[in-house]
Amino acid sequence: MPASCAIDFGTSNTTVALCQNGEVRQLDIDPGSPHPDRMPTLLYFPPEGPAVYGARAVDAWLAEERTGRLIQAIKRYLPSSGFEGTLVGNTVMGIEALIGGFLGQCKKVVDEAAGENVTRVLLGRPAQFGATPERDKLAQHRLWTAARRAGFTEIGFQVEPVAAARSFERSLDRDVLCLVGDLGGGTSDFTVIRLGPGRIGTNRADDVLGVAGVDVAGNDFDARIVYKKVAPYLGLFAKYKLEDRWVEVPTTLHHAVTRWHSLCHAKTEKNLRLLERMRRYGDDKAGLGRLEEMVVDDHGFHLFRAVEDTKIALSEGTDALLSFHAGSLALDAPMTRDELDAALALDIRELEKVLDGLLTRLSFRPEDIDVVFLTGGTSRTLRVQQIFDERFPGRVVSKDVFTSIGYGLGIEAAERFLS
Ligand SMILES: Nc1ncnc2c1ncn2[C@@H]1O[C@H](COP(=O)(O)OP(=O)(O)OP(=O)(O)O)[C@@H](O)[C@H]1O
Ligand SMILES: [Mg+2]
Repeated sequence: MPASCAIDFGTSNTTVALCQNGEVRQLDIDPGSPHPDRMPTLLYFPPEGPAVYGARAVDAWLAEERTGRLIQAIKRYLPSSGFEGTLVGNTVMGIEALIGGFLGQCKKVVDEAAGENVTRVLLGRPAQFGATPERDKLAQHRLWTAARRAGFTEIGFQVEPVAAARSFERSLDRDVLCLVGDLGGGTSDFTVIRLGPGRIGTNRADDVLGVAGVDVAGNDFDARIVYKKVAPYLGLFAKYKLEDRWVEVPTTLHHAVTRWHSLCHAKTEKNLRLLERMRRYGDDKAGLGRLEEMVVDDHGFHLFRAVEDTKIALSEGTDALLSFHAGSLALDAPMTRDELDAALALDIRELEKVLDGLLTRLSFRPEDIDVVFLTGGTSRTLRVQQIFDERFPGRVVSKDVFTSIGYGLGIEAAERFLS
């Protein structure tokens, strides 16, 4: 029987499993990197030569002195009809070609490990790709097209938290009603599903009782940290003189800085004129000058790395130092866990709303849930864990946060494709 594979194509990280001779094996997709079992979803197009993917993309981009195009979080564009492609060198590359290249790299690793041309793939997808059914359909179709371009001919999809559940199920010794929370970089998904040894081999479609998703996750947390801790350093509270009046600076550019993708598109003629005017006629020339440098030199990569490090440090301890150094910018801002919790309050409320809404829709009380399985990198955030500990005390389990979905997809791919 030919081999098949599974790809958890994530906003931040991608993992791959190979299904061959009845076995599912997670592959080292990014060999030589600090975490070879997951590949950062990064694409780099140098000024010349082939694209570079994963952790090596950053090294190559730095080695080329930040020329060419480094693309992050490409998955978030899938549901966006306004985004069809982006300029790479002198040509516009469509989103299907961009992601197709990345999946092609995954396929190469799979083919090598399998020793054959693997053409069947099961891809993960969020419970909800976009806010409307049309966007959802567009996103899945684009991902399908990208997989075709990568050389796959038989392509299936599974909802990411259902895949995570299948992986968790292997550790269960009794049947349970399980809530899976998958909180990643771009989306957070919740699923109520029946799991356990007694369910394996039955028609699993009936086991999924409900799914809900929202595009609030780790990248949004990063944006909150940037706005709270970095934007003031970039003149957020400045005023500038417009004709003969002092007016507050418009916050659109500070908002643009909070997202990697909006920052790298902020360098327009119009914005550059505004930035110069604000700096020249502003009361915080230093801060507004830094904002200008941020946009002109696009320091997004270093900014978001610093912010993510701070967020991760606050998952472990109560204090951290946000240390952001790029070009002439130098910010060392202490941040406490309480400050982080306050910055995340609206996002946390949104996650709670979606979770409680799902339980209500299914007419379940929290006590009805036997066990909660948390996965995805953002599930490590303490304030996120509290949401679940408060509702389901003593019943929350979390493990393999970066790999459970890819592995669960592999289990399901092996069943679907009989590999
Ligand atoms: N220790 C930690 N504490 C808080 N957040 C973390 C931690 N480690 C990683 N993260 C965050 O987890 C996110 C990445 O998680 P993951 O790899 O599960 O996402 P993904 O699968 O790529 O995204 P998605 O499923 O939304 O497409 C990032 O936002 C990262 O900053
Ligand atoms: Mg994920």
